[in-house]
Amino acid sequence: MPAPVITADNLVKAYKVKGKPDFLAVDGLSFEVAPGESFGLLGPNGAGKSTTMKMVGAVSTRTSGDLSILGLDPDRYGPEIRSRLGVVPQQDNLDGELNARENLYIYGRYFGLPGKVCHQKADELLAFAQLEDKAKSKVEQLSGGMKRRLTIARGLINDPRILLLDEPTTGLDPQARHVLWDRLFRLKERGTTLVLTTHYMDEAEQLCDRLIVVDKGRIMAEGTPASLIREHSSREVLEVRFGSDRNEQVAPQLEGIGDRVEVLPDRILVYANDGEAALETVTHRGLTPITSLVRRSSLEDVFLRLTGRSLIE
Ligand SMILES: Nc1ncnc2c1ncn2[C@@H]1O[C@H](COP(=O)(O)OP(=O)(O)OP(=O)(O)O)[C@@H](O)[C@H]1O
Ligand SMILES: [Mg+2]
Repeated sequence: MPAPVITADNLVKAYKVKGKPDFLAVDGLSFEVAPGESFGLLGPNGAGKSTTMKMVGAVSTRTSGDLSILGLDPDRYGPEIRSRLGVVPQQDNLDGELNARENLYIYGRYFGLPGKVCHQKADELLAFAQLEDKAKSKVEQLSGGMKRRLTIARGLINDPRILLLDEPTTGLDPQARHVLWDRLFRLKERGTTLVLTTHYMDEAEQLCDRLIVVDKGRIMAEGTPASLIREHSSREVLEVRFGSDRNEQVAPQLEGIGDRVEVLPDRILVYANDGEAALETVTHRGLTPITSLVRRSSLEDVFLRLTGRSLIE
């Protein structure tokens, strides 16, 4: 096994809150990321994902625990670590006054790269981000997806071995997300280590080799998307709707069908190995759902199982 490029051991970040005990945004996270791996932090709003990414990116100091990035302690080697990482923050912080190409060029100069190299890199990265025809467009004239691609391109200017992506596709439409996933997949194929946060289970399933499910600053589960689903959910899920005011009332009559029944405000989930068979049993009991749907279990189900809450609130 090659040495990990990131090691976090009992990582803690406490924020001071006036008149109250310190708030633990990150409460003892331990994880390792192997070179070339695509590692995810999946969790709802406020889980501590960005806080963790900022500590890994050496822009926020940890309260306690151990952290090593490329073998270096960010407390002592912040500038060196920052120069070797690529960072895509949750909020785009491109320079709105500059055009797309200038944003890349200036960022390269900021890293101390010679002007000639920056010009060459800017062109390469515009091609990679499929933004060649927007090279001269001001940032404000770019769509949300284009801005995100430009931010990723900018993060690659120093040929980082690790790219940190905080919610790379939040707020984008499905098509823009797929374009981004394709670009990230290419980086992964080239051997770049990706660390990404998301609260989209499909994104985690698409991009992550391995992930941790985080809630309230703690790790709830860890594994590959497939192993997490196997471990924490059934093979299939039957979703039935009886109408918002009737779901609660009907739920007890579904008892014993499948492995587990979960009542959400808008639907009932029946976890079962065979969803169609579960549906047959439902109808045999004389119940007629307004709609029914059988699907494979997903990470969303894992999260619901582990926390009793839905990922997207
Ligand atoms: N500078 C700060 N001072 C005090 N509390 C903070 C600070 N930054 C974050 N927090 C709190 O820490 C918790 C974790 O925040 P964080 O931004 O890491 O969550 P997140 O998982 O990235 O959420 P989201 O999905 O909404 O981006 C939240 O409760 C947040 O309010
Ligand atoms: Mg965040």
